[in-house]
Amino acid sequence: MIKPRKAAIVGIGHVGSHVASALVTQGLVSELVLIDTDRAKAEAHGADLADTICWMPHSARVWAGDYSDCADAELMIISASGPIFKEDRLEELAGSLDTMDEIAPHILECGFQGLIMVITNPVDVVASYLRRKLGFGPDRVFGSGTTLDSGRLRRNIAQALGVSPMSVEAWVLGEHGDSQMIPWSRVTVGGQPLELAPGGKELDRQEIWEKTMKAGWNIVLGKGSTEFGIGAAAAQIVRAIFFDEKRILPVSVLLDGVCGQQGIHASVPVCLGAGGPERICMPIMAQEEEQAFIHSCERLREFEPALINR
Ligand code: 2OP
Repeated sequence: MIKPRKAAIVGIGHVGSHVASALVTQGLVSELVLIDTDRAKAEAHGADLADTICWMPHSARVWAGDYSDCADAELMIISASGPIFKEDRLEELAGSLDTMDEIAPHILECGFQGLIMVITNPVDVVASYLRRKLGFGPDRVFGSGTTLDSGRLRRNIAQALGVSPMSVEAWVLGEHGDSQMIPWSRVTVGGQPLELAPGGKELDRQEIWEKTMKAGWNIVLGKGSTEFGIGAAAAQIVRAIFFDEKRILPVSVLLDGVCGQQGIHASVPVCLGAGGPERICMPIMAQEEEQAFIHSCERLREFEPALINR
């Protein structure tokens, strides 16, 4: 029998519901389980999505379920969290880790064999914690990381240069947070290095970095959460995996020695396919970019003792 593309989302709040909507409207899943401690809310989202599917050129089965529905799912997306704060993702850490403590035994008990994508913030630290708590290998648990930030970066560069974001290749790497960095030496516009693109030399890199880094918080300050952007970014990651695209996107994986860094999760460009995060494709960076990446990793490493001592 042909296997359906089955995913589950744990935590159907602002983020989880928009990820669900993106997966369903883009036709990326054939079965989607919505899990939330507020079952009535999950059921309402399920019904609302079922209404959406009526108008789609592809079908999917969406229902409010339980972990027992996940044994044969290929992908679990974790977007459950504690309270959301307005200025710093790291303030969400304690609540998020408590939530992972609640979720992990259910994942283990249900016999889930697939991949886990963590979105819950602070995503690098939470992905690292959940992976260890579950005892899963680095190929099975990763965070959505700086895929979202990289979209914001492409948009900001594109806006400044008057081109389409589709013509810009640029990545944000390191922490999905304040220490994130941009390997500017790898940015291309219409296939050209940034300095050779019209306006590229004059680009205010510091301003673009800051605008990109603060983008999420400006949205949170305005409306209480980000949701559409992460829904779209997460859907691209799911597409790369379910369609075995071998697409390279920056997601938060256990580092294997890149730039001398290992033992923590941070975002690096990763080839995504049916095997999940199949291999790290770290670009050659300028020396100061390597230093910025290492600095971001060191920032994340500061949380390691707290994770181990829980
Ligand atoms: C975002 O960057 C707040 O992490 C969330 O949209």
